[in-house]
Amino acid sequence: MTTLLEATGISRAFGGVQALNLCSLEVQKGSITGLIGPNGSGKTTLFNVMTGYVRPDQGSVFLGGTDITNERPDKVFALGIGRTFQLTRIFGRITVLENMLVATQREESWLRGLTRSMSSTSEVTSAMEWLDFVGIARLANLQAGALSFGQRKLLELAYVLVANPDVILLDEPAGGINLTLVNEIASKIRTLNKSGKTFLIVEHNMEFVMGLCDAVTVMHQGADLVTGTPSEVRANPLVLDAYLGGGEDDEEIEPEVSHG
Ligand SMILES: Nc1ncnc2c1ncn2[C@@H]1O[C@H](COP(=O)(O)OP(=O)(O)OP(=O)(O)O)[C@@H](O)[C@H]1O
Ligand SMILES: [Mg+2]
Repeated sequence: MTTLLEATGISRAFGGVQALNLCSLEVQKGSITGLIGPNGSGKTTLFNVMTGYVRPDQGSVFLGGTDITNERPDKVFALGIGRTFQLTRIFGRITVLENMLVATQREESWLRGLTRSMSSTSEVTSAMEWLDFVGIARLANLQAGALSFGQRKLLELAYVLVANPDVILLDEPAGGINLTLVNEIASKIRTLNKSGKTFLIVEHNMEFVMGLCDAVTVMHQGADLVTGTPSEVRANPLVLDAYLGGGEDDEEIEPEVSHG
């Protein structure tokens, strides 16, 4: 096994909130790795640190052994880490196809990139192929703002894929979409994984995570709590405690006795 993406000892505070507290994570090359944990446990913040959107106060990020800590998002993207966002970030006032064509330039001068791409037949062909892969090619000329939330997620997946990243970070790909679409996304991920893509997936849908992932890391209060196979994680009592809100802050409250 080779580690493709690695975060070591990452800490990050926002004001008084310690979003990440010495968090470490390894993603093996060729794996589908799951990242789970209760709301607010730091999953999205870790994604943001690994993709250059948030600077860590402490710790390092490595891609294929190269230190990429504090690289800017466009550089990280160019180095081969693609990501989607928990709340999708697409351009609503241009078409689905146009969104695809700005995909590779989205961090800088996307308008210039779009103009160039529109005249390049091969880029349009490739964009259409990926839209077809995720099943929304028929919507190519629709304004992206008219897409449903699930279709936006598929568009985001397609525009990440068009840039051909080595590792793909998905933030809640199954969140807020119907079951048919959830299963479709799972099968797309499996197909891509077989063709060599590595995935890191944040998701609250346990069936989705457990059915898809080779390894799962559970986060709790900004740190990695448990890492293992889906069945190891499921059997670990610490995980249940984390989800039920157990922790050092939750001491049993003594019933108040009035001495009246
Ligand atoms: N930009 C920010 N400014 C202030 N606080 C932030 C910021 N980003 C994250 N936080 C805080 O950091 C903590 C971790 O948030 P994060 O979004 O990483 O959690 P999460 O595990 O992705 O949760 P969810 O499952 O609800 O998406 C939360 O307390 C959150 O409010
Ligand atoms: Mg999140």
